Amino acid sequence: MAVAELVLRCLQARDAAYCPYSRFPVGAAILTSGGAIITGCNVENASFGLTVCAERTAIQRAVAEGHRSFTAIAVTCDIKDRFVGPCGACRQVLLEFGSEWDIYLTKSDGSYKKTSLKELLPLPFSPAHLGRPDMAVKL
Ligand code: THU
Repeated sequence: MAVAELVLRCLQARDAAYCPYSRFPVGAAILTSGGAIITGCNVENASFGLTVCAERTAIQRAVAEGHRSFTAIAVTCDIKDRFVGPCGACRQVLLEFGSEWDIYLTKSDGSYKKTSLKELLPLPFSPAHLGRPDMAVKL
């Protein structure tokens, strides 16, 4: 699967963002180990703290559809002049499902920058700290 396809899917997912309060749409697209693409967008709420980011919407949807093994995620927002990373909460939620997947920060023109959880979330708290060395995260 070409990265360009994953990027395109996250750009399309952004169109569905429900963000009447921030007017800041975000899209995410996750590539599973089996080759499926699962997308998400941010979903805001009048009780602002209940807002869910695009990345977490995508993760929750993916898990609910039976996926737990992921190889990449692409994320995009409307900021044109720089690459924007996932918020801290989303970094932690991504880590739950492994530290090895690729993260593509993308812009509306389809350009992207590859990064990783090791870079975005150094010295993490992980399942390994709860005595679960069997789980996906490698530190
Ligand atoms: N947002 C995301 O969807 N992902 C992030 O990683 C950062 C922020 C959303 C949440 C909210 O709906 C809007 O962007 C402004 O914070």
